[in-house]
Amino acid sequence: MSNASSLRIGLFGFGVVGQGLYDVLGRTPSLNTRIERICVRDRKKERSLPIELFTYDKEILLQDPNVDVVVELIDDAEAAFHIVRDALLAGKAVVSANKRMIASRLPELLELQRTTGRPFLYEAAVAGSIPILRNLEEYYDNDLLSSVQGIVNGTTNFMLTRIAEGNGDEKDVYGEALKLAQQKGFAESDPTMDVEGWDPAFKTVLLALHGFGVVLRPEQVVRKGISSIRRADARWAAERGATIKLIARVVVNKGRVSASVLPTVVPNTDHLAKVNNELNAVQLQAAFADSQLLVGKGAGGGPTASAVLSDLSALRYDYRYSYRKLAANTGLVVDTERIGTFYASGAAADVNAIPLVKLIAQGEAEGLRWVVGVSDARSPKMEEVFTKAGLFWAEVAPEVAIAGPAVQVALDEASV
Ligand SMILES: NC(=O)c1ccc[n+]([C@@H]2O[C@H](COP(=O)([O-])OP(=O)(O)OC[C@H]3O[C@@H](n4cnc5c(N)ncnc54)[C@H](OP(=O)(O)O)[C@@H]3O)[C@@H](O)[C@H]2O)c1
Repeated sequence: MSNASSLRIGLFGFGVVGQGLYDVLGRTPSLNTRIERICVRDRKKERSLPIELFTYDKEILLQDPNVDVVVELIDDAEAAFHIVRDALLAGKAVVSANKRMIASRLPELLELQRTTGRPFLYEAAVAGSIPILRNLEEYYDNDLLSSVQGIVNGTTNFMLTRIAEGNGDEKDVYGEALKLAQQKGFAESDPTMDVEGWDPAFKTVLLALHGFGVVLRPEQVVRKGISSIRRADARWAAERGATIKLIARVVVNKGRVSASVLPTVVPNTDHLAKVNNELNAVQLQAAFADSQLLVGKGAGGGPTASAVLSDLSALRYDYRYSYRKLAANTGLVVDTERIGTFYASGAAADVNAIPLVKLIAQGEAEGLRWVVGVSDARSPKMEEVFTKAGLFWAEVAPEVAIAGPAVQVALDEASV
């Protein structure tokens, strides 16, 4: 596709991101794009554009020979997959922001790209405006990169910032943070995907694919959300010079790859501890470049549309993901073991039921029992305690675990 001819877009969805894209394209005439038609769902909704521009029939866009590119920006993962599949089969290039759909249907989408030969780009699906997928795909050589981690969910980062600040109702600091996130439009009315860590897990699947050439299912990402956090947990971290963040992580070590989304007690000296509110960040660890950090807006109409715009621009020079690392098939074994050194808090009976190979510290605070230790990943009880409602878990660096004022068991005598 050359710049001379207009890029003719069939747009699906006119919500936060769809409207953001419409505005961004209007302000980028140099890209020479034209939105042919917009497919939406609700016939009764008022639209800010002339009604002739809209359709409710997806086939009108999918079968339109004037449409070169389908941009899929809807909030229904199942319907989105059918749109993307049919568009690729109809010979169109496709751009999407739908992390849930892409991460859940990865093998089929890879096969569709192979059989149709059409490009499918989705930079906006991970960390909004932060350019990470094409970067991982093209810039970093596979064996130089050892980990990709970061804060890739703005809703939970906003909530954790608020909880750490300690403003508001002491008794329900989580509920209040959630309510504020909803009022500000960061959290949906059903926040499960964000607060239980599913949304960042979908993004982690895409980071693993483009960073390391590994196809994971979302269920293979070791996942724990933030819905059990209490003010006492944030205080525990603060007393040790640290902050709790929800960290998505893909690590490769000695032929094994592990992927996780876990609340993590991050020392305040770490850059990620300073990434607050709805901001996102991705940190890369490479052999020679050492540590690198990208910070930016992870959501919202304009920032997310900027990543869609970049994909549209890349289609101009016939860019497509090469999936070079996937093709190299390095034989990495997927590790789904639970966290190693951890902090947990909750009712005494629940905390005491955690199978340990090592106890590092323990105590009580604000009516809760807490423990720091190394969990026994192979214990049959692990699944039950790890998923137990009301039991808060966080990965914790050993230097944080032993730094606090309430350490009651010395490290060298802690093995149980
Ligand atoms: N919001 C963000 O900051 C953000 C950031 C990164 C990625 N994303 C992803 O971007 C996508 C869109 O998110 P959003 O926040 O823009 O959603 P949204 O504001 O809820 O808008 C969803 C749009 O999709 C339309 N839609 C739903 N089902 C449809 C169907 N079957 N056929 C045609 N149109 C349909 C809706 O139509 P009606 O207008 O008729 O209701 C609406 O226009 C999602 O995959 C989301 O995960 C969002």
